[in-house]
Amino acid sequence: MYFTLHNMDVKNKRVLLRADFNVPLDENEQITNDKRIRETLPTIKHLIAKGAKSIILTHVGRPDEKKAQTTDVIAKHLSKLLNQPVKKVNSCIGKEVEIAIKAMSIGDVLMLENVRFNESEKSKDEVKRKQFAQQLAGLCDIYINDAFANSHRDHASMIVPQFVPGCIGLSAQTELEIINKAMEKKERPFISIVGGLKADKLKSIHNLLTMSDNVLVGGSLALLFLKIKGYQIGLSRIDTEGVEHAESEIKELLNNKKLILPMDCTITEKFDKDTKVSHTTVTSIPENMMVIDIGPKTIELYKKYIASAKTIIWNGPMGAFEIPQFEQGTKEMAQAIAQSKATSIVGGGDSATAVEKYSLQNKMTHVATGGGASLMLLEGKKLPAITALEESYARYKTLMVTANTV
Ligand code: 3PG
Repeated sequence: MYFTLHNMDVKNKRVLLRADFNVPLDENEQITNDKRIRETLPTIKHLIAKGAKSIILTHVGRPDEKKAQTTDVIAKHLSKLLNQPVKKVNSCIGKEVEIAIKAMSIGDVLMLENVRFNESEKSKDEVKRKQFAQQLAGLCDIYINDAFANSHRDHASMIVPQFVPGCIGLSAQTELEIINKAMEKKERPFISIVGGLKADKLKSIHNLLTMSDNVLVGGSLALLFLKIKGYQIGLSRIDTEGVEHAESEIKELLNNKKLILPMDCTITEKFDKDTKVSHTTVTSIPENMMVIDIGPKTIELYKKYIASAKTIIWNGPMGAFEIPQFEQGTKEMAQAIAQSKATSIVGGGDSATAVEKYSLQNKMTHVATGGGASLMLLEGKKLPAITALEESYARYKTLMVTANTV
């Protein structure tokens, strides 16, 4: 049980809104899909209308892996969408932040800096994470989690409601309810299609294999399996975060007959929109080429599974669909799912972007903002950030005036 936004009297309160504005940015740092920002607007507009002081906190990217991404461009974009100024500060705790919050008036919106710039956010040391969460809690009277897409993480900014009254935001609440409802009566055949780059989905594949009749794999994720099978993957990009010790796990998954891997793939010499592409079997990927999509035979095979399914989970693109030459697998999966009568849950920023690219969002049962979070929920697991909201409810329920909870 947790508080909803309607339980909270936010008037003149400092409200820390944890959003997931981890939006895709192009090489010029421009937002290529603002779905995650747009989805949070109802919560922000509610806060403004009710006279709160909204302090927005998000992560963008993984600054430990790539160059730093600040929230500057997000603050500007949000300001445009809200049609009001959004002040941006260069940190998420400390003097500058405290001064900016003190200066806020009713209805103001303040954007903090990328929370992942503070290494305690994702620290493996729980004590450090808790200390940082407490510091963030010190900035506000009320905390709101409208970051469904990051709710599978137990990062510091997601457990803040352990230290201050916290509730769920409007968008996160809707996502939780729709996904839970869709999974209540899942009809068979039930297939899961998993792709994308992130290797931490391997953990989910294990559970999906138990729940589903088949799990079809694509994207860079499929290459991890091919690599462990001993096949050459050439210059292809794979995610290594979290897979250092995954070899035995992958080998075990490979023994499962429900797991379906690509039989062929689309390859190219360089990651470039004008490059030439060709197809090859997965057993003969040349050393000087990279895989950028599944191949035509795999597309036909996967479409057969989709056509006969009654429940479909799709999480992660089949290839680098942003470039038209590399989009065939992802596009055809999206179209086949849209045509099917199955209950379809699409999860993940990239899959959502793909579905929007082909204007198919209204043909899916639900397009979730978060890949990892929706997968965890679909696996029937508790999301750590939602557990933190439940703890907040247990701790603060006697202090709250209203009692409409979920
Ligand atoms: C996502 O995009 O799935 C969330 O924002 C979480 O991002 P992460 O995988 O970098 O933790």
